[in-house]
Amino acid sequence: MPLVKMTELFPKYGDNSYAIGAFNVSDMEMAMGAMKAAEELKAPIILQIAEGRLRYSPLKLLGPIMMAAAKECKVPTAVHLDHGGTLETIKLALSLGFTSVMFDGSKYPLEENIARTKEVVELAHAQGAAVEAEIGCVGGAEGDYKSVDILVTDVAEAKRFAAETGIDAMAVAIGTAHGNYQEQPKLRLDRLQAIAEATECPLVLHGGTGLTEDDFRNCYKRGIKKINIATASYDSSAAKIKEVYGEKPEANYFDFSDAIVQGTCDNIKKHMYIFGVENKA
Ligand code: 13P
Repeated sequence: MPLVKMTELFPKYGDNSYAIGAFNVSDMEMAMGAMKAAEELKAPIILQIAEGRLRYSPLKLLGPIMMAAAKECKVPTAVHLDHGGTLETIKLALSLGFTSVMFDGSKYPLEENIARTKEVVELAHAQGAAVEAEIGCVGGAEGDYKSVDILVTDVAEAKRFAAETGIDAMAVAIGTAHGNYQEQPKLRLDRLQAIAEATECPLVLHGGTGLTEDDFRNCYKRGIKKINIATASYDSSAAKIKEVYGEKPEANYFDFSDAIVQGTCDNIKKHMYIFGVENKA
């Protein structure tokens, strides 16, 4: 029923009491688990998939599943392309009806990132979709992308990037990285606060897996509106499959299918509680 744009779900500028969770899904079972979590907690949700994971889940197949899940879901749901790197994939996501796309130009020099991001904003806005883009560099690797070092976002660059590109959400690098952390990160909350004071553009936190409850709360209290969680859902689903197999070695395909739904749902609910998003639908 309610397919919406992610920007409609963000807490208003100045309301730092919660953040919206954006959860990566790679198949129908994960999408079902995400819907279940959102409906049980009456929490709006963003479903997303990163371009770097499409080798496992081609967008032409997964995209329509995500769109159907959003339309079927009883709470407001946005469908988002995470870490779009090529215009081809971004155009495909828009043609499938995704309500937002991310363009990740963080590997380019600032001027080029601005120019390429503006091109995506023009394209997406013309189709009524919203755009997220990244400035600075979140570390680690999302899916098949090459692992990169963290480059903490500069305040003046963030302000300029938001103003010149016209983006609807800005991913900032404040010490987080994609994937599981080898060492607990120390977040640059001072930098986050300064960026939030310099621009009203909604801010996005990537690399959510493995952060502490305090980290999440400290981030949304300082202006983060969207928090991305991917690895933790993949790990939670894999752990549930192993648990089912451990308890029932004769388990069949459908037992494992249920395990993915439940593993995803459990992880998403856990994070939604921490993000304070329950009953916000
Ligand atoms: P994690 O895999 O670390 O949760 O990061 C998710 C993310 O930022 C997706 O863009």
